[in-house]
Parts: sequence; C-alpha cells; structure tokens
Amino acid sequence: MEAILLNGKEIAEKKRKMIRDEVSQLRLKNIIPGLAVILVGDDSASRTYVTNKQKTSKQLGMHSILIEFPSSVSEEDLLSKVQELNIDPSIHGILVQLPLPKQIDEIKVIEAISPNKDVDGFHPINIGRLMIGQDTFIPCTPFGIMEMIKETGVTVEGKHVVIVGRSNIVGKPAGQLFLNENGTVTYCHSRTPKLHEYTSKADILVSAVGKVDLIRGDHVKEGAIVIDVGMNRNASGKLCGDVAFEEVKKKASYITPVPGGVGPMTITMLMENTLKAAKLLLQNR
Ligand code: GUN
Repeated sequence: MEAILLNGKEIAEKKRKMIRDEVSQLRLKNIIPGLAVILVGDDSASRTYVTNKQKTSKQLGMHSILIEFPSSVSEEDLLSKVQELNIDPSIHGILVQLPLPKQIDEIKVIEAISPNKDVDGFHPINIGRLMIGQDTFIPCTPFGIMEMIKETGVTVEGKHVVIVGRSNIVGKPAGQLFLNENGTVTYCHSRTPKLHEYTSKADILVSAVGKVDLIRGDHVKEGAIVIDVGMNRNASGKLCGDVAFEEVKKKASYITPVPGGVGPMTITMLMENTLKAAKLLLQNR
C-alpha cells in the first residue's frame, strides 16, 4: 500500500481562507492585525522566508512591515527597534528572522520581544507556558505539524511519537506539543546511536535535522505517519527533505512531501498567531 500524501499547500490554503475571514471581521472592529518582521543581513534563504511571510500576511488582509538592518548592526540598535515595536499599537506580532550575526546575542533579542507579541513563540515565557500546558503562542512549525496530523483524523493519544532533531525552533517544542496531546514521546538527535532502532518503533515520526536521506525505508514502521521538516538540496540541487521519499512512501500510511509539505503550514500558523495576538486586544479592551 502506498502512503497518502499530506498536501501542505492544500491544508494551508483551507486554513488561510478561515484566517482571511477572521481578519475581515476584525477590520470591522477597526483592528487590523499587524506583523513586523525584522531581517538582519542578506542571507538569501532568510530573505526568501521573510518575503513569503510578508506576501502571505498582505494576502490575508493584514498590516505588514519589513525592517531591514545590515549584518553589521549593533545589538543595541536591534534591541531599541524591538522595544519601539513593543509599544507600537499598529503592531501585534514581532518576528526577528533567525539566525542573527554572531555579534548579537540571539537570546537577548528574543527576550526583548513582548511575550504578547511573540508570534514565533520563542520567548522563554511562552516556551514555559507550552511546557505547563497553558495557552500560548505555539512555535509555527510544530503548530503546523500538529494541524497536518489533525487532518489525518488519527488521534495522538497513546501513539509513540519519535522526534529526530532537538532544536529550540522545531524538535523540542514539537515533542512538547505531542506530549500535551498525550502521545508517548522519544527525542532522538545527532548523538543518538542506532537511530533506526528508535525511528522504526514510531507510530508518528517527525524528522527535523537537515540531512538528505537520513530516514530510509528501513527506518520506518509499516503504517507510520511520517512528517518531514527537512529543507535541503540534494546532489543535483533539487529541494528535498530528510526522508528518502520514494522508499518511505511504500511503508508509511501518510507522508508529507518536500516542498509542499510542512513549509506552507509554517507560514500559515504564523498568520494564525498574528491573528491571535490581535485578538488579545479585544479581550483586554
Ligand atoms: N529561521 C528559521 N525558521 C525560523 C522561524 O520559524 N522563525 C524565525 N524567526 N526565524 C527562523
């Protein structure tokens, strides 16, 4: 049996329609969800991500600004821009595109963002809230992964979820999110020996490492759901994930493609978080 494709573009489009409608409703109440994106330097991948975020927010009727700094920017200047945005009433969500140049302390910048505007969900307060199961901004990629799982109709409770990768952006929060849904979670990473011994026991397997063909057919249990968060180029320059797609699709029940899988979902959940940030205003009025 061949796996069913989890089409991120389609799922994302469906969600975007709902977000667009909600934005229209908010506009009637004179609230226009506003997103500020800060881009430092001119890394081409970062620029592509940021451009897509801008484009999508505009398509959904949001207010969107891009603030650019050269890679030589001082930490002080960056921090004062964040503080300015924290008190700007037209801005509900602030996102500083990572990575930042090495003279800048990333944690310091993330901690400067008001937790109520932290649409990436990277602030330690929001990470803490996620850990203790409180309402928070869920980091966009794990949030998007969970939405795709929901689309399968499979319940997470009681499933063995194996996460490969332990980044603060994807692996760690994704595991926490599955734990909050009553999954049994195993974290694997670059120092895990005999990776296949863990991955082959997964009912739900998430790979977020950044290594071509890391997950082969024999790494996967028959009928598993396989979520590929990798974003790599193979030897012939083609965009691909961590999963050897052709091999794994013969064993999985559901699989996400790269491109067109998790990627479009990540941006969509950023929009959802920006909308949520704007709606916080309604509660506080
Ligand atoms: N760099 C790579 N992914 C992300 C993300 O989700 N948010 C931010 N701010 N930077 C990133």
